[in-house]
Amino acid sequence: MNIMILPKPEIVAGSFVKDYEKIYAESCANPGLFWENIAKELSWYKTWDRVLDWQYPYGRWFTGGKCNIVQNALDRHMQTATKEKLAYIWEGQDGTVRQFTYGQLNEEVCRFANVLKSLGLKRGDHASIYLPRIPEQIIAMLGCAKIGVVHTVVFSGFSIEALKNRIVDGEAKIVITADGYPYKDKTIECKSTVDEAIKELPQVEHVIVVKRAGNNIVFNPGKDLWWDEVTKTQSTDCPTEQMDATDPLFILYTSGTTGKPKGIIHSQGGYMVGAYITLKWTFNLTPDDVYFCTADAGWITGHSFIVYSPLMNGVTTFIYESVPDYPNPGKWWQLIEKYKVTKFYTAPTAIRSLMRYGDNWPRMHNLSSLKILGSVGEPINPEAWLWFHEKVGNSNCPVIDTWWQTETGMAMIAPLPSVPLKPGSAFKPFPGIEADIVDDKGIPVPPNTQGFLVINKPWPAMFLDVYKNPQKYREAYWEVVPTKVYFTGDSAKKDEDGYYWIIGRNDDVLKVSGHRLGSAELESALVSHHAVAEAAVIGKPHEIKGESIKAFVILKQGVTGSDQLKEELKQEVRKQIGPIATPDEIDFVDKLPKTRSGKIMRRVLKAQELGQPVGDTSTLENQ
Ligand code: WTA
Repeated sequence: MNIMILPKPEIVAGSFVKDYEKIYAESCANPGLFWENIAKELSWYKTWDRVLDWQYPYGRWFTGGKCNIVQNALDRHMQTATKEKLAYIWEGQDGTVRQFTYGQLNEEVCRFANVLKSLGLKRGDHASIYLPRIPEQIIAMLGCAKIGVVHTVVFSGFSIEALKNRIVDGEAKIVITADGYPYKDKTIECKSTVDEAIKELPQVEHVIVVKRAGNNIVFNPGKDLWWDEVTKTQSTDCPTEQMDATDPLFILYTSGTTGKPKGIIHSQGGYMVGAYITLKWTFNLTPDDVYFCTADAGWITGHSFIVYSPLMNGVTTFIYESVPDYPNPGKWWQLIEKYKVTKFYTAPTAIRSLMRYGDNWPRMHNLSSLKILGSVGEPINPEAWLWFHEKVGNSNCPVIDTWWQTETGMAMIAPLPSVPLKPGSAFKPFPGIEADIVDDKGIPVPPNTQGFLVINKPWPAMFLDVYKNPQKYREAYWEVVPTKVYFTGDSAKKDEDGYYWIIGRNDDVLKVSGHRLGSAELESALVSHHAVAEAAVIGKPHEIKGESIKAFVILKQGVTGSDQLKEELKQEVRKQIGPIATPDEIDFVDKLPKTRSGKIMRRVLKAQELGQPVGDTSTLENQ
């Protein structure tokens, strides 16, 4: 599709960056100066000695600097009018509304940080946060960050095994959860999942439980604590810990090509700068904005763009507890109208599914408050892009398609509102970011040719490492192509105008409704079932979800496949990883294509499944 949508003059006039090409050229001519100037927009206890200490493959930003992201997210607003302004408006599925000014949020964060301290947690300790989309999820994250406790947020849709792996690997001393939460007409229990996950984990000293659903839970006196009881007696003052810029802020687990999710570690200082500026510039954030991001803080989008960046930018963020089509597919549009949302950030999956319900739902609401729309998590097809632009944005709002990853911490390839847009393209790299599309030798490919998306230079919000697995850090990201650049795992093309078109993952990582899942992770859940000998999982293109999950399963000798067994296997995956990982299709097979060294060749299965050419099979064991 060759459409170009030009920016409206009033949008350009109101943009932080009016001339992308100029700013981009300047930023690449002197990236150190560019990032330093942005860092100066934030407050630091002590200025850095060096902007970047780059020792391949590790980049350490703002070394010698002292800061705390909470100082920028909350403390510094306490001296300004922002203190009285709403930081969050939260609406529950049942219509309950909770609001926090920056001042009130700060008090809650201080109370919670004091609870952690009273339980003996200190700088460098780790905490797991397994909470649904309620304000306490954010308060808990900020409370940890404030005193230098490293948080690991686990998405509340994950189940027992997934949670347990993250608690064990992340060495959490404490888990913060809720009794349960409403999900459409059900109640999802979280506390019982935590109980199961930590059954054999003496490392977890306490479980703090927020009351949300009011469901019955097993309460273990001594170990379990009610959030409201422990916070209410605490002081609303708590000093913010002065951290080194290179200290870890959080670990967030994400799926890769092995069964075990990787703990991506982000820093206090570099992450702060990258997250702060990318949302500000891509969404033109200004103090009067009401910003609505539909992600969950359990994912990187939520960390950077629901919690840290919006607060650093002093905007009001709206959060809806539930899903887009509950109680009806007009829910988001109704909320945008009710709260006069100006900036709206969501995922292609949601856009595609809401598009299916027809134009009437958005048309029923006054969406004229909207100024900018955003998309993240997977490639957005031009049809969905245009529908979003026309039916939601009334052709007035730029659609900002932001490409980034858990590892990058900040948006990397994304338009600014002042640039001409091509529906389906994520535009070009953000200022200060040098990207390219290369072949397997690291050589740039010609325009309109598919290749590997790489990032050539370190960037401030780059992850520090893979927790307890530096080898993985090197191998999976920095040694895949031989030119010492960051390998993203995505394939993409650049067109003749230099616009990037992201095609999707080139490894065994799936994107199902924007959720990142590893084939190996799903396979290991299947294989743990007593009937299964071997399993291979692939992603198949899906009109709404982006990808659907198909599993090929070899059963143990003597076991016969049946529909009932398929159902059982689906349940097993749900129980272990979570409902988001439920296979859509399961085929029982006798053999799987493997290399001579025994590795399953999933790409052969995928090609066969999609009726595409199988490609090079020289390493296939059984031709
Ligand atoms: C995909 C999400 C196309 C991509 C922030 C990447 C996208 C993976 C886009 C990271 C986009 C993210 N267009 N694909 N705008 N944004 N992706 O770690 O495959 O959950 O590698 O971070 O999502 O997923 P993650």
